[in-house]
Amino acid sequence: VDENTPPETLESRSLEAIAKYIKDGRAKRIVVMTGAGISTSAGIPDFRSPDTGLYANLQRLDLPYAEAVFDINYFRKNPLPFYTLAQELYPGSYRPTITHSFITLLYQKGLLLKLFTQNIDCLEREAGVPDDMIIEAHGSFARQCCIDCKASYPDDLMQKAIKEKSVPTCQKTECNGLVKPEIVFFGEQLPNSFFRNRFLPEDADLCIVMGTSLTVQPFASLPQACRDRTPRLLINSEQVGLLGSRADDVLLLEDCDTGVRKLAEACGWLEELESLWAMT
Ligand code: APR
Repeated sequence: VDENTPPETLESRSLEAIAKYIKDGRAKRIVVMTGAGISTSAGIPDFRSPDTGLYANLQRLDLPYAEAVFDINYFRKNPLPFYTLAQELYPGSYRPTITHSFITLLYQKGLLLKLFTQNIDCLEREAGVPDDMIIEAHGSFARQCCIDCKASYPDDLMQKAIKEKSVPTCQKTECNGLVKPEIVFFGEQLPNSFFRNRFLPEDADLCIVMGTSLTVQPFASLPQACRDRTPRLLINSEQVGLLGSRADDVLLLEDCDTGVRKLAEACGWLEELESLWAMT
């Protein structure tokens, strides 16, 4: 390839190469890593996009700094900002995107090794990716418990608290600790399922990273766990992490939904993908 090959030719050539690698049956264990960027077209803001990102729109909570809303030490002192925001974050009336459906399609074709997601919106599950194929690295709203004694807290009382923007406290009177959904706050440990599976990318024969700034550790190191000869495809508005540093890295620097449609089309799966998404 000479230096004056226009980038889009490079991009389409490398996308074709990835599609051929898949169609030739050489990608059977695809590891997928996702972040908030795959849910923005569903109407859920991501965190760090300028202007539209959640962290650029928290002035009303009067925080010392934006990420404090998800910081466990700040939460202990002042849980109200989180519970003010929780109502907007709580999973409910969002439809999965075609990018979520693309992951489901990989699973249906028996090609998905594992999905690592940082998202707490549960849209992967709603799109049809089975529970045992998903590692929710930053937890989810599925359960809640007391941050002191870890006693679980009833779902119905949690939903009532979220609706009323009130702060639920532990039902054990002698404890009276604060209750929090089991989403991973800054300063908290990731779930064991993440650590049990964090070397799994070594077994992958293709890695697809979508919709994440790769700024939060230890999730951000997952793509490095892939072996050198494993091609890594980034579908993201901007180049992130160390993606692009290896010879077999392929960068599709554009909207996720557009990128997965291009890849599906190159694999001859576009019609199948569109009809799968249409049923979601
Ligand atoms: N298509 C492609 N890329 C997109 C799209 C889109 N429609 N929308 C946003 N992006 C890109 C952004 O350019 C950015 O690179 O997705 C990335 C989103 O990055 P973040 O907002 O930082 O979200 P994420 O990487 O998931 O954040 C990681 O930070 O606050 C913590 O725990 C929280 O899980 C979250 C973690």
